[in-house]
Amino acid sequence: MSRNIIEAVGLTKIYQDGELKNEIFKGIHLGIEEGKFAAIIGKSGSGKSTLLNILGGLDCADEGEITVCGKDINRLNDKEMSAYRSRNMGFVFQSFNLIPVLSVWENITLPARFAGLPADDSYVGELMEMLEISEKRDALPATLSGGQQQRTAIARALVNRPAVIFADEPTGNLDGETGNKVLELLIGGIRKYHQTLVMVTHDMDIAARADVVIRMEELKGA
Ligand SMILES: Nc1ncnc2c1ncn2[C@@H]1O[C@H](COP(=O)(O)OP(=O)(O)OP(=O)(O)O)[C@@H](O)[C@H]1O
Ligand SMILES: [Mg+2]
Repeated sequence: MSRNIIEAVGLTKIYQDGELKNEIFKGIHLGIEEGKFAAIIGKSGSGKSTLLNILGGLDCADEGEITVCGKDINRLNDKEMSAYRSRNMGFVFQSFNLIPVLSVWENITLPARFAGLPADDSYVGELMEMLEISEKRDALPATLSGGQQQRTAIARALVNRPAVIFADEPTGNLDGETGNKVLELLIGGIRKYHQTLVMVTHDMDIAARADVVIRMEELKGA
């Protein structure tokens, strides 16, 4: 029997644009089963990144409850949330968010240092090999191509073998062949480490491989 590793109830997010209220979504419900690949699709500006950030505790909803791995993440303070996230969640950001003054290797192993875990050097080496960034080990992010930055961000999300991986357009900057390899690596983690993968994508071929497709427009009842 699978259970929902992510459960969100009544999520509402409103941005205040000066005088105007910009309601991104209101009262949405969502459950994602453990060990599954869920794809989130929807138009640009529909709130996919906002939703992913809220599910990962990087942003706050204005209303609603979220449980991840059985933990009510609304109740955690910032410090507890960071500690919880670094041990249980991996994030691939749409804009990578690599630390400019750290090398590729230092960026990838940062979540291990955050979590107070020893970096597993052979696993890091394996990830870099699979993502074809081994020769960039000591390079700074600014000297990498967009695709190499994206693959560094993917290795960083995987380094602690987290229970849940949130990935925002993780293949957006990659050619078809490299994108497929990255997808195999992310999906491979589901089998190998029983991970749950929540991925925002515009690519319908990728969405077709997901166990469940979450359409933003449907979620919002549009
Ligand atoms: N920090 C912010 N302040 C104000 N408005 C914001 C902020 N972040 C996002 N928004 C607004 O929220 C809406 C949803 O943005 P979001 O980035 O979640 O969309 P998206 O579905 O991920 O789009 P894309 O496919 O282009 O990445 C947009 O209208 C955006 O302008
Ligand atoms: Mg987005």
